[in-house]
Amino acid sequence: MTEHRPPHPRIPAALISLGLALIGCPGPRQPGPVSPTRVTHTVVPAPVSIRANQGEPFRLDSMTSIVTTNVAEVARTGQMLAALLRPATGFPIPVITDTTRPGAIALRLNTSATGEAYELSVTRDSIRISGTASGIFRGVQTLRQLMPPSIESDMRVNGPWVVPAVTIVDQPRFAWRGSMLDVARHFFTVDEVKQFIDLLALYKLNVLHLHLADDQGWRIEIKSRPRLAELGGVTQVGGGPGGFYTQAEYADIVRYAQERYIAIVPEIDMPGHTNAALVAHPELSCSRVPPALYTRTEVGWSAFCPNKEETYALIDDVIRELAALTPGRYIHIGGDEVEVLTHEDYIKFVERVQDIVVRHGKEVVGWEEIGKARLRPTTLAQLWKSDSAVLALRSGAKLIMSPAPKAYLDMKYTPTTELGLTWAAIIEVSDVYNWDPATYQAGVTESNIVGVEGPIWSETLRNITAVQYLAVPRLPALAEVGWTPQSARAWDDFRVRIAAHAPRWNYLGVNYYRSPQVPW
Ligand code: ACM
Repeated sequence: MTEHRPPHPRIPAALISLGLALIGCPGPRQPGPVSPTRVTHTVVPAPVSIRANQGEPFRLDSMTSIVTTNVAEVARTGQMLAALLRPATGFPIPVITDTTRPGAIALRLNTSATGEAYELSVTRDSIRISGTASGIFRGVQTLRQLMPPSIESDMRVNGPWVVPAVTIVDQPRFAWRGSMLDVARHFFTVDEVKQFIDLLALYKLNVLHLHLADDQGWRIEIKSRPRLAELGGVTQVGGGPGGFYTQAEYADIVRYAQERYIAIVPEIDMPGHTNAALVAHPELSCSRVPPALYTRTEVGWSAFCPNKEETYALIDDVIRELAALTPGRYIHIGGDEVEVLTHEDYIKFVERVQDIVVRHGKEVVGWEEIGKARLRPTTLAQLWKSDSAVLALRSGAKLIMSPAPKAYLDMKYTPTTELGLTWAAIIEVSDVYNWDPATYQAGVTESNIVGVEGPIWSETLRNITAVQYLAVPRLPALAEVGWTPQSARAWDDFRVRIAAHAPRWNYLGVNYYRSPQVPW
């Protein structure tokens, strides 16, 4: 499972200067047999360093094999790469452990690598990807993007299947690079969530935060409290049929994400945004009056009663079952937009729920309002509106940067975009790209940040095709904000690289917005 540790030590200056070479800035000459030639490529997020090797490119042909070590995780990534390469090429691409075989794509663990670091080296005779197990998976995504977009075809198409002779040394800037899918306002099927995970994987994101409960729906089966999903999951915004994930379905999503080194972070939003839970358990509201199912979109009016032990008993059941379903470190407790409780009651609630999560062996994430409470240094606060996030730093808690005017990917691209909302901003692709998480917020520096996340709230989004339209190309832009060193990023370079991804999205069946900012 992907571990979320603090960001890696700063990248050596030499690597950063190579990154600069990508965008045309002069860097010092590197020693060794390869020269730091500028390489034109379309990889997103841009690698830390990419250099041209001497000699011919690698050509996939009917003899190409994938060689992996016996380590099961690496072998699985090898099988996934083979499954990607076979349909378009029509080549057999066996996955073997015979390291002497020529014409091979070799995947190797590097036991001294850390985090998601990898190296990828292409010569005429071989392709080698080495790194941590997660790094190898990230490197495979780079290899995929070095190949023609038609490699994504699920029918046989003509090559040639050429991979340029390059050496890439790469690792992420931030340990947390995520998106959030709101499955509460509209419900998304397991298959739709997997399609979204596929998109995250292509762009080296490593967190999918699932917003599993809100006023309009409760979307996860809790076996000890079956009414939550059975009564709270029946509808969605606009009055459609809603739904929920059984624990077996949810476990399937978690496993699918895990195979792609993506951590699922489940969110139960509380004490506000709880109408669906209160439909199932009206005794947890202070009034005890059973509420009606809710299919509109106003916020801030519902709340669990913070002064009842029954409230914490239910939360304990929910968190215990969620923790058992969660191999990752974090459970998200929401905490946003509570307008009907006193300040004191809100703080008491957050601190008690924080303790419940920790008692079940997990760490807390909450929206930035939880910064008003006494947080543990291991808790993460998610900045979205910027007025209480710095409070979280008092206790040593760190921040996930999701400032709404930059990272809320459910905002419209232009005033006339059919889908999306406008309350935070109108956000074109360049707006998502052109900010630095380390300087965005006064009082917040790089050391206070674990990474970035692009939430996609689904009030206007009834299926995954609509989600893709708002996510692409803005989520790839945010992925580069999270992965690539700030000094190696440039909008004029990104907009050209991302334009080359449109044919890939067409092969993959991914819907996207043809931004006028991008030279398609
Ligand atoms: C939020 O957008 N209410 C976190």
